[in-house]
Amino acid sequence: MNQATASVTSNIEVTPGVYLIWLESPQIASIAQPGQFVMVQCGEESLLRRPLSIHQLGKAKLALLFTVVGKGTYWLAQCQAGDTVDLLGPLGNGYSIHPDSHNLLLVAGGIGIAPLYFLAQEALNQGCSVTLLLGAPTTAQLYPRDLLLPEAELVIATEDGTTGRKGMITDLLPNFGHWADQTFACGPISMYRAMATQGQQLLEAKSVQVSLEVRMGCGLGICYGCSLKTKRGLKQVCQDGPVFELNDIFWDDPAFNC
Ligand SMILES: Cc1cc2nc3c(=O)[nH]c(=O)nc-3n(C[C@H](O)[C@H](O)[C@H](O)COP(=O)(O)OP(=O)(O)OC[C@H]3O[C@@H](n4cnc5c(N)ncnc54)[C@H](O)[C@@H]3O)c2cc1C
Ligand code: FES
Repeated sequence: MNQATASVTSNIEVTPGVYLIWLESPQIASIAQPGQFVMVQCGEESLLRRPLSIHQLGKAKLALLFTVVGKGTYWLAQCQAGDTVDLLGPLGNGYSIHPDSHNLLLVAGGIGIAPLYFLAQEALNQGCSVTLLLGAPTTAQLYPRDLLLPEAELVIATEDGTTGRKGMITDLLPNFGHWADQTFACGPISMYRAMATQGQQLLEAKSVQVSLEVRMGCGLGICYGCSLKTKRGLKQVCQDGPVFELNDIFWDDPAFNC
């Protein structure tokens, strides 16, 4: 893990309220793994750093994809090329691709594409076949198709049917249960709950790894602010996760209602 002052190389609004920022940080980019995150110092007066997943890797740089929800992400959205941002990372335990797996199903709900893009990059580099199921409420909120990796098979669902299949992205799971050797997901808790109740049978009980978002204090295993009771005992999301097996989580845990 490194603390790095990263220089912003670009910051663009890709869909309303969602930004893609590229930061030069050879120290972090050289060791980052898909599913890991960085803690971002959002302005000098901000006490707590904000956790954001590593979205893409470039040469000596990394990208973050974030929705503006409050003070910290608003600050980050204002950063421009040439500004510097203090990062801690890479942190946490990310996704792991089993050596025997070839067909990988990636399920992204909305901003959930953030860590899955990096996973798709890595999987394609390893020679895996990747299908990305990408869901959003409506076309305006869909991650732009021209920014996606052309080598990954893309299947889209929007809740209002303005692009792709009409409905929830989880409705598409039955079509891929047989094909996928492993499934990786990132999205809202409602998506995980749907996957846990009906998706696991549809995915033929194969491994499903999900990335969790809970409120974090330090991101370093010190404050215990992110503790979560799982079927494998008490875990710290920032260190043991943020990626967990879908079936190891109690999806009615109040930690997910914050
Ligand atoms: C491991 C991890 C990875 C994450 N990766 C991404 C990512 O790639 N892109 C992205 O847009 N967001 C991501 N998040 C969520 C992101 O950290 C929060 O949206 C951010 O901290 C909000 O900061 P803020 O100062 O803008 O908002 P605040 O003023 O702190 O909060 C504004 C609103 O956001 C909600 N919020 C705050 N923190 C979180 C959180 N950790 N999870 C869910 N809701 C929160 C609050 O309930 C509140 O309603 C991730 C969270 C975790 C734990
Ligand atoms: S956020 Fe402090 S221990 Fe996880």
